[in-house]
Amino acid sequence: MTRRAIYPGSFDPLTNGHLDIIERGSRLFDEVVVAILVNPAKQSMFTVEERCEIIAEVAGSDRVRVDTFHGLLVHYAVARQATAIIRGIRAVSDYEYELQMALMNRRLEPRVETLFLMSSDAYSYVSSRLVKEVASLGGSVTGMVPPLVEERLRARLGTPPSTKD
Ligand SMILES: Nc1ncnc2c1ncn2[C@@H]1O[C@H](COP(=O)(O)OP(=O)(O)O)[C@@H](O)[C@H]1O
Ligand SMILES: [Mg+2]
Repeated sequence: MTRRAIYPGSFDPLTNGHLDIIERGSRLFDEVVVAILVNPAKQSMFTVEERCEIIAEVAGSDRVRVDTFHGLLVHYAVARQATAIIRGIRAVSDYEYELQMALMNRRLEPRVETLFLMSSDAYSYVSSRLVKEVASLGGSVTGMVPPLVEERLRARLGTPPSTKD
């Protein structure tokens, strides 16, 4: 039986913190499905299609798949025959909300386990939100996101390549 985990999120855009979690997850499971939540109510910088394409290009492999979902995560996990949900924890501040969600998901679907993974401490302060904020103010996000994401941010924001480094 294929041991499959779902790694859900917004990934707007993919960061090196996300990539770190994907790599750790793919060492534990036969297949990790990076699943982008489609939420039309939430403002995003990149469309779901753009986010999909970026993840497939940077992380896609036999063991790392990309998909989209809407509605309840546990319904999606069962439909994909996944046994686990992976979530990344950066700091204690992530924990309370993540714990609440994990327990709610367990209540809704006891067959699916939530697994918390910690990224490298080098990425403990990296978030999609801050990356967008720094990039839109002209700061360098080199090393925080894959080069493809840096390119896409530049194209979206119309800023020239960083002259630093
Ligand atoms: N730098 C990071 N290190 C570890 N986990 C991270 C990092 N950035 C994001 N994550 C985790 O990745 C998952 C998806 O994050 P995100 O794309 O922001 O979606 P969401 O909207 O679900 O928070 C979440 O579990 C989040 O905590
Ligand atoms: Mg988040």
